[in-house]
Amino acid sequence: MKDKMARIKLFDPHIDENEKVQLLRVLGSRFWASGAGIGDVKRFEQKFSGYVKAKDSVALNSGTAALSLALSMYDIKNKEVILPSLSFVATANAVIENGGIPKFVDVDDETLCIDYEKISKAISKRTKVILPVHFGGFSSNLEEISKLCKEHKIHLVEDAAHAAGAAYRNKKIGSHGELVCFSFHPVKNLAMPTGGLISINRNDYKEVARILKEKRWCGITNRKGTDYDVKNIGWNYYMNEFSAAIGLAQLKKLDKTNNQRRKIAKKYSDEISSENKMPFDKGCSYHFYWIRVKNRTKFRKILSEKGIETGIHYKPIHTFSFYKSKIKLPITENVGKEIVTLPIHPNLTQNDVEKIIKEVNRLS
Ligand SMILES: Cc1ncc(COP(=O)(O)O)c(C=O)c1O
Repeated sequence: MKDKMARIKLFDPHIDENEKVQLLRVLGSRFWASGAGIGDVKRFEQKFSGYVKAKDSVALNSGTAALSLALSMYDIKNKEVILPSLSFVATANAVIENGGIPKFVDVDDETLCIDYEKISKAISKRTKVILPVHFGGFSSNLEEISKLCKEHKIHLVEDAAHAAGAAYRNKKIGSHGELVCFSFHPVKNLAMPTGGLISINRNDYKEVARILKEKRWCGITNRKGTDYDVKNIGWNYYMNEFSAAIGLAQLKKLDKTNNQRRKIAKKYSDEISSENKMPFDKGCSYHFYWIRVKNRTKFRKILSEKGIETGIHYKPIHTFSFYKSKIKLPITENVGKEIVTLPIHPNLTQNDVEKIIKEVNRLS
């Protein structure tokens, strides 16, 4: 029985018996790292590639690691990477870490994904990569962005941290861009203790996967028994077997759990009276559901008193001290002041959803 007074959580992983069985299996194997592990990391990479229909995948220990390594595959030193400012800061940090220059572009008012019309104005001779974020699991306009990439000979790397199981024009996210970065942080649709992955769609995918695998474990290469070589710098970014085992269980039910999210999103979109809210799209994975409100502090305080957790996604990156610049992004800046994210996950009951709609409408 659900405690009547229990708070309605903003994020909550969907766990059942299978995750518990898989965790104990890995625990008992006593091989927890992927190198000497029991093959779940490899299996997860294969299953995920099959699921999104990518050429290959490399599993990592976070979405942050995925973004850093993906951008490291392009020489972006002193080159520009076009991205939205409305994202988690890791998106821009990955550009800086690789010596690149983040060039923030405003978002589309309706979807809050990067505005492709503004991208074309931002492209310069120094532009090397376009890095769209599928905001909340709502796909950016990949057709138009891909066209721009081809036209200007620049690369498409996607931040799909919110978009596990999402689709653009009936093709799963993960199969479009050259490199697509996923996060499997515990709050994500496909949740692990920690985890990330790069799906690869480049023609040289075998070589790219080989290099990424070296980079994810300290540059180690040419292993023969206990002997190995190091030819390039690398990091400790590999996925562990516990995460992969949970990931396999989560992947099996991802379409089902995403459909549960979509049902809630449809209801929010039909029944929340405010006009200023996330649109409904059957390809969206609804990692979160956003609305925009004028008096956010009061709005969140009242919902919290009613037992409903909410969030703010995100404070725009260009407003942080480290990234501060003179750039003006009017839509992003307004959204940054107004956005509130509402609970949307498979553990919500019908009553929870009704209560959220009722309380939100009371305040609108
Ligand atoms: C848009 C976006 N990009 C990247 C990340 C980084 O993922 P991780 O937390 O797995 O490092 C996140 C995580 O919250 C995110 O929301």
